[in-house]
Amino acid sequence: MERIVEVEKLTLENEYEVSLRPGGWDEYIGQEKIKKNLQVFIKAAQKRGEALDHVLFFGPPGLGKTTLANIIANEMQANIKTTAAPMIEKSGDLAAILTNLEEGDILFIDEIHRLSPAIEEILYPAMEDFRLDIIIGSGPAAQTIKLDLPRFTLIGATTRAGMISSPLRDRFGMHFRLQFYNTEELAQIIKRASLKLECLAHDDACMETARRSRGTPRIALRLLKRIRDYAEVEDENEITLDRSRYALDALGVDDRGFDEMDIRFLELLISAKGRPMGLGTIAATLSEDEGTIEDVIEPYLIANGFIEKTARGRIATPKSYALFRLTPPVIGESPSLFD
Ligand SMILES: Nc1ncnc2c1ncn2[C@@H]1O[C@H](COP(=O)(O)OP(=O)(O)O)[C@@H](O)[C@H]1O
Ligand SMILES: [Mg+2]
Repeated sequence: MERIVEVEKLTLENEYEVSLRPGGWDEYIGQEKIKKNLQVFIKAAQKRGEALDHVLFFGPPGLGKTTLANIIANEMQANIKTTAAPMIEKSGDLAAILTNLEEGDILFIDEIHRLSPAIEEILYPAMEDFRLDIIIGSGPAAQTIKLDLPRFTLIGATTRAGMISSPLRDRFGMHFRLQFYNTEELAQIIKRASLKLECLAHDDACMETARRSRGTPRIALRLLKRIRDYAEVEDENEITLDRSRYALDALGVDDRGFDEMDIRFLELLISAKGRPMGLGTIAATLSEDEGTIEDVIEPYLIANGFIEKTARGRIATPKSYALFRLTPPVIGESPSLFD
């Protein structure tokens, strides 16, 4: 049981993140609409003395889904059990988790789009009627035992809105899509973390780091950690603009916030001269798996208007061409023009 439930606590990198994770709404920067809605629903549930309706979070990695699940648990004063879909292999795994829940508990399932259909089937009655149907034996002798479960709240998180099955999605009462953060919000997150780490980052240093964080708090915090390492080596406990720039350049982080993979991706699309490129081709050329491209690389580039996803594939927008000081091909012309 321990192993299945405590996946979050495995790595050192996680420990650093967990230590900087906001514990309440006042520390959770941005995502204002989600915050407002959740605050209302939490209050209403508390007034009725009921468990909160099931919640589903969508969004690229590092935007604060796990953090939100934990804040909800704090606000509801509920226990939270955390697991991830790949850890739930057999129906017995899920049955064990469900039967160990107590009234009002929160069950957080990360990467929920990866649950197998057989496991999803078990989850449906559990979510709808707080009931667990266990089948014992097989063939004509098989028996179904129905167990009542305590009223719990399931919080699901996924990086792929499109990959979650619709019967599962429909069983969540609330759906929230997390947005990338703007520079000011990321700067606030960096500032707060630097205070917690007792290594004060100056405002301009926070803004500089924020600009290079790809709209993502997890990246912002990792950059801060590396910059702090540079400062510590020099026996400094403050992060100035110069020092942050020096560290960021040394780390090879682009001043537009792109990493090496973003640049290779954009260059590849530009080399297609206006023709859409399929995901498979992109993945093969960049030696990266399709899932990573769809979950991690593309969303930021799409959100910022650098690429477009069409039915026939991905294309670079004029904004991308401008980034490399190139002139975009004339749209609507025959592709053969570019051959
Ligand atoms: N809105 C936010 N305000 C402050 N810190 C945040 C916010 N969102 C995320 N973080 C920080 O970024 C880290 C990654 O967030 P996390 O919730 O683990 O992302 P996800 O689960 O979406 O991949 C967390 O450790 C947390 O410290
Ligand atoms: Mg997470």
